[in-house]
Amino acid sequence: MFLNAFERDMLEGRHGAGMATAMKVMVAIGEAFGAEKMVEISRAHVALSNQDADLWFVEKLVSGGAVCLVSPTVNPGFNLEYFQDAASVNPLDEATIKRTRKAYRTIGATLTYSCTPYLEKNIPRPGEVTAYSESSATPYINSVYGARTNRESAQSALCCAVTGRTPLYGFLLDEYRRGNVLVEVEADLRDDFDYQLLGYCVPRKAGPGVPVFTGLPERISPEALMNLGAQLNTAGAVPMYHIAGITPEAPTVEAAFKGEAPLRRVVITNGDFKKIHDEITAAPGKIDFAMFGCPHFTIAQVGEVVRLLGGRSFKAEFWVLTSSLTKELARRMGYLDIIEQAGGHIVDDTCIDQPCWRHLYGKRGVTDSPKCAYYTKRRNMEFVIMRLSDCVEAAVRGEAS
Ligand code: F3S
Repeated sequence: MFLNAFERDMLEGRHGAGMATAMKVMVAIGEAFGAEKMVEISRAHVALSNQDADLWFVEKLVSGGAVCLVSPTVNPGFNLEYFQDAASVNPLDEATIKRTRKAYRTIGATLTYSCTPYLEKNIPRPGEVTAYSESSATPYINSVYGARTNRESAQSALCCAVTGRTPLYGFLLDEYRRGNVLVEVEADLRDDFDYQLLGYCVPRKAGPGVPVFTGLPERISPEALMNLGAQLNTAGAVPMYHIAGITPEAPTVEAAFKGEAPLRRVVITNGDFKKIHDEITAAPGKIDFAMFGCPHFTIAQVGEVVRLLGGRSFKAEFWVLTSSLTKELARRMGYLDIIEQAGGHIVDDTCIDQPCWRHLYGKRGVTDSPKCAYYTKRRNMEFVIMRLSDCVEAAVRGEAS
């Protein structure tokens, strides 16, 4: 592929070994996908995971002197200070999160520790070329903002951030962004939770491709779009969809297909929702805890919890995960006090898939997030998946029905 003089210098190590490693990865990806050249990026988000491979890679770049040309926002690991106080962090976990923080700080990342960067701190304009990893982020960037990103891994997004560029291929190009699967939604969309089920159903029923939705309400909340993208991309590796009137490239359904006929047409019904829900949820019954914020809760969702709680207390452990900004807003707005007085917790900078939750391994919870239930299976955590209003009731009673 064509590289300009600066890119060739990077590749050949004239800007340090770390930069050369990142550029080698970029060139390998570009060649694998037939890219003709590199393009500069304006933004990036790295789905930092605080796991061994993630840490090994970022430390390798750091030891070679790499510093990001475009500072990326980053995903959460866990909030060491918060969980250390609760004495639920062992020395190995403490050492790993400290090394992860240090490596990302040294490489020049913007330490947001949130998985919803597209709602705060890292918001692109239509047409911007970017590099986002994180399942809910890539569909939001492509489909809601009309900016352009491929479905990056944490490592490829980090290499993009270090080199300030990405190979020109895939969802950066018009031809790959065209909708090609028509998804007619007949199912009832009662609240934001139903978009979780919609996102889970579509890849199963429609197969691969770029879905174009019809039958959705005119107004869809940011939280519903966050849920839709998270589940589309977790259940089916779908980094882009079209909704006429929301996706900038799709003022109409016809525009989304760019004048071509869809490859497939599927209808999503209430029966599909029930089938997928029956498949992914644990059976109702006694619960030990409730967990929300996968992806991180917005301030509107925290406010909804307070409204649903209505001055009662929780019988089950109650955890809301969110960004540091949203937690601060919750503090200012009085939500944090209300949730803590009810026996619940709001914790910032933390992901559901981290070792800080050891005390919940082998236990049973409720959540409104299929993604949360999916990732925590490997930690032997079991979840009843319900809409938020039912989850709050379950947490108050200590039982999901
Ligand atoms: Fe966020 Fe972790 Fe879920 S990064 S989306 S809380 S798996």
